[in-house]
Amino acid sequence: MTIATMQHDSVRAVEWCDDALMLLDQRRLPAETAYLRLENVPAVVAAIRNMSVRGAPAIGVTAAYAMVLAARAIPDCEVAGWLGAMEKARERLAAARPTAVNLDWALAAMMAVAHEYPRDQQALLAEARRIHEADIAGNRRMGELGSELISADSVVLTHCNTGALATGGYGTALGVIRAAAATGKIREVLVDETRPWLQGARLTAWELHREGIPARLIVDSAAALFMARGGVSWVIVGADRVAANGDVANKIGTYALAVAARYHGVGFMVVAPTSTVDLATATGEAIPIEERDGAEISEGVDLPASVAVSNPAFDVTPAALVDVLVTERGVLRQPDTCGIDRLMSGL
Ligand code: MRU
Repeated sequence: MTIATMQHDSVRAVEWCDDALMLLDQRRLPAETAYLRLENVPAVVAAIRNMSVRGAPAIGVTAAYAMVLAARAIPDCEVAGWLGAMEKARERLAAARPTAVNLDWALAAMMAVAHEYPRDQQALLAEARRIHEADIAGNRRMGELGSELISADSVVLTHCNTGALATGGYGTALGVIRAAAATGKIREVLVDETRPWLQGARLTAWELHREGIPARLIVDSAAALFMARGGVSWVIVGADRVAANGDVANKIGTYALAVAARYHGVGFMVVAPTSTVDLATATGEAIPIEERDGAEISEGVDLPASVAVSNPAFDVTPAALVDVLVTERGVLRQPDTCGIDRLMSGL
């Protein structure tokens, strides 16, 4: 079976349906498969903030459809006023989550169409659909490219959720794992639970189970032990932003995995579409790191009032710890400024 004909992608986190944006509410998974119907920008901003939808590419696709909702809500007016109102919607959406650059990328693409075809809701909807479809196609391509690097009978370790739920469909890092599993290469996937929001335990485990891919849930802090025991061939993760020098922002804990992988001689693979590469951000130091509510960590713990809580949602892995960056345009080994530049300029 070729990857193009595989069925291994049966869920959509984001859909445009009957003139509204439908989001699979990821806060309720895996207990419940419930959809939110959103019809205006403030509702979409809230859904991105509260993680009903999450994962950098899925947030980008969501924001693209939200711009169609924005256009629909603007009363009849001159082009300048219409563009001003669209710009306000873009700003509100862009501020919803700061680290995932796909959000800005998708909004910029939508604003380009808004300028070219002012007040044309159909043109905006066509662009949002194009962004959505291109994301899925890119993920399938990355699945093919990344899975070629995986040997038969491999145990791979993944972090957070980078699957169909985190993207337009199919997934980035989990897309590579799906593609490798479809060709019989995956003995088992070690799934980090991904504290504090449990994207691994709640979402990745759910996706892998639905597709019959063997999986084992571990606490985040057990990853180094599994690497030390031997037998882990790759750590495979996604990204929220890749800086121009190849530094990678991704879910908190990714940096520690990269350090442990290098120490134990385990390959470290980042899988991200070029919409996640941000040439305007020179290095990882300049990537804004979202700080989330401490209650996500302390809930259920009787924490003494004098104890402070910090909850950075992402960290930055230096490019030097990345063995391979897989994009839809090709595979870059040991990414650095020159390699990223070549990749992005198509040389
Ligand atoms: O906070 P989240 O769940 O939005 O974080 C998601 C991640 O960190 C993913 O690894 C990243 O967005 C890539 S998803 C294809």
